[in-house]
Amino acid sequence: MKDSNYLKEMNARHVWHPMTHPADSLMNPPTIVTGASGVRITDVDGHEVIDAVGGLWNVNLGFSCEPVKQAIAAQLDALPYYSIFRGTSNNAVIELSDILQKFFAPDGLTRAFFTSGGSDSVETSLRLARQYHKVRGEPGRTKFLSLKKGYHGTHFGGASVNGNANFRNAYEPLMPGCYHIPAPYTYRNPFNETDPARLAQLCLSALEDEIAFQGANTIAAFIMEPVLGAGGVIPPHESFMPGVREICSKHGILLIADEVITAFGRTGSWTGSRHWGVQPDMCATAKAITNGYFPFGAVMIAEHMAETFEKDESGMAAIGHGYTYSGHPVGAAAAIACMAETERLKVNENAAARGTQLFEGAQGLLAKHEIVGDVRGGVGMMTALELVSNRETKAPVDKAIAGMVQDLAYKAGVMVRVSGPNLILSPPLVLSEADAATIIETLDEALTGAAKN
Ligand SMILES: Cc1ncc(COP(=O)(O)O)c(C=O)c1O
Repeated sequence: MKDSNYLKEMNARHVWHPMTHPADSLMNPPTIVTGASGVRITDVDGHEVIDAVGGLWNVNLGFSCEPVKQAIAAQLDALPYYSIFRGTSNNAVIELSDILQKFFAPDGLTRAFFTSGGSDSVETSLRLARQYHKVRGEPGRTKFLSLKKGYHGTHFGGASVNGNANFRNAYEPLMPGCYHIPAPYTYRNPFNETDPARLAQLCLSALEDEIAFQGANTIAAFIMEPVLGAGGVIPPHESFMPGVREICSKHGILLIADEVITAFGRTGSWTGSRHWGVQPDMCATAKAITNGYFPFGAVMIAEHMAETFEKDESGMAAIGHGYTYSGHPVGAAAAIACMAETERLKVNENAAARGTQLFEGAQGLLAKHEIVGDVRGGVGMMTALELVSNRETKAPVDKAIAGMVQDLAYKAGVMVRVSGPNLILSPPLVLSEADAATIIETLDEALTGAAKN
């Protein structure tokens, strides 16, 4: 490794960082992470902190998962790459597809289409949704519906169904035919409704209304996260996703669950859809499928969709989509090892227990700190604290204050993520009780420190 002087001198000079203004990176060069172990990361100055971000919602098993590292190394030796485009396959991807169809059987999902990450998985789902309707003889179903506050990655399709202006405006015009429904976000919503069950019904009515307005026979799919993640951790009322499922089924609209964050245990259940008792038509996954150790993803496809494609005799079902790295053998080997560790450690159970601990701890911070306007979570290991400058008006906190809380927490030993006015906690699912307590204590200290400034 180059020495620390070199790294600090070069930091952000020749890299444009995702989701960052290039001038901001130059003025405030990013933390340089050079090592990690367990649930902790170490920076270039040797400062070690608990990673309460979990990489980027993906390092569910922590940074020291030996079976996954070994599987990657062994696969690199045996077969570092071969494509699975028409006519070839590899042993790792075949084995993985069998593991995945067993894992997702309770969700009714039986086929896998492999990708290189979350945005690819979303794009693949949207494209397959349109193709499905064409194969079935309803080519007019091309539109997509989604939730405001939703995040579906940054490819043009995903950006078009995204529900946050930050990821849209600079890249407009986006794909036509994408329409958005209010999110079941009790803290802020156009109905001024704070009761989660009533709000869920209002959002469902808005969905019905939009379908009637657009015409059901023009809509291919509705895409949603079972718990809105990057948009600020917004768990819906338990009636919401089942309500969406019912409405979609009634109108012949496919339901795509974007489980890039929620699949593989984060919600406390093995999938977010299963958490709400819903079987989607497709499920976009990535991130934890390889624990972040290799860029990889999979779209899981329902049996009824698979039949439509596989029984097609017109040729329309030929898939004109895929990536050089679809089914990459090293990614597949990593995923096989990850799935085994994920199930062996029953990480969903720890996600539920430690997630509740973090949520309750965050509620304590809401009671204590004026700057915390809302706390959301309670569905596994995903928690957000929404910071405000005034509790009465709910005016969002100044960006600099949120940054200060993050800095103070980092100095005191915990990395948290700031996204707009939200502090987001999404640690590895193997987090211990003691580390969860440290995260809350450290945030308490940081919020107190920021209030003094
Ligand atoms: C729900 C959801 N969908 C899609 C994506 C995009 O995934 P990627 O960044 O791997 O392209 C993300 C990333 O955070 C996500 O949270």
